[in-house]
Amino acid sequence: MSDAKRLEGKVMLITGAASGIGLACAERFVREGAVVAGLDVTPRPDAWSAIEKAAPGSTYTVGDVRDEAGQNAWAAEARARHGRIDSIVTAAGVAGGGPVHLIPTEEWQRVQDINLKGTFLSVKAVLGAMLEQRSGTIITVASVEGLEGAEGGSTYNASKGGVILLTKNLAMDYSRMGIRANCICPGFIDTPLFRSVIDSPALGETKDAIRDQHKIGRFGRPEEIAGAAFFLASDDSSFVTGHALPVDGGYVAGHRYGHTKLMGLE
Ligand SMILES: NC(=O)c1ccc[n+]([C@@H]2O[C@H](COP(=O)([O-])OP(=O)(O)OC[C@H]3O[C@@H](n4cnc5c(N)ncnc54)[C@H](O)[C@@H]3O)[C@@H](O)[C@H]2O)c1
Repeated sequence: MSDAKRLEGKVMLITGAASGIGLACAERFVREGAVVAGLDVTPRPDAWSAIEKAAPGSTYTVGDVRDEAGQNAWAAEARARHGRIDSIVTAAGVAGGGPVHLIPTEEWQRVQDINLKGTFLSVKAVLGAMLEQRSGTIITVASVEGLEGAEGGSTYNASKGGVILLTKNLAMDYSRMGIRANCICPGFIDTPLFRSVIDSPALGETKDAIRDQHKIGRFGRPEEIAGAAFFLASDDSSFVTGHALPVDGGYVAGHRYGHTKLMGLE
């Protein structure tokens, strides 16, 4: 079996690259031979030293996904430096929610602006290059909470549902131009964002119930989402476009009613 690096020479852009899922994608992609350009609103984390060392030419840019000019400049710089853009992973995102009657309208707007409009702007920034090349893979990051409702999900779920349909429409419009678009819908993944929610006093006591929704019986790891992103970026997924892929330990597989003992499956 060949141990060739599967993304050798690919130029891959990642938003939310400082932490969690975006960082895990950067680490996986450089292991597979890609050069990565990360963007995140937070200062460059130490973890990026190893990424830049493993894949010279990789860059980290501090920027906000709500800033259209900034995202365009980031994508243009990557293209000028490497001559092409093969993939983008849009992992920048924030949590947010609560029952609608308690949510300030500005908070609703902030979550839509980062999660949904930010995704739109990221994709828009790379489409020109991908259209000229007639190739590219767009990988958005939504959530299981974009596929179904969750108590108090509101703002977050609406933003992620929007990301899923935006992605399906990208596939509609651009697949014949050689550009595939797919969306990853993670279950609950152990990242700083997850911990800020699950360890909050408000949600702490429901942690076990949330874990139980994952039929595998545990929360996910960022590298498990990076594995799916790798598949969607690689030629192994050459016939996959317009798909919303749950990577969720079975979270959206169905409902559990506690019949495992009855079935002898404990
Ligand atoms: N962790 C989970 O359980 C989970 C589940 C489903 C979906 N997701 C989604 O996965 C994505 C990554 O989340 P994560 O869990 O790795 O969280 P994370 O907080 O570890 O990483 C998110 C990154 O996005 C960056 N970011 C936030 N706002 C930004 C902005 N305006 N501009 C640029 N960067 C910005 C943050 O600085 C951070 O580095 C998010 O879109 C999140 O909604 C996460």
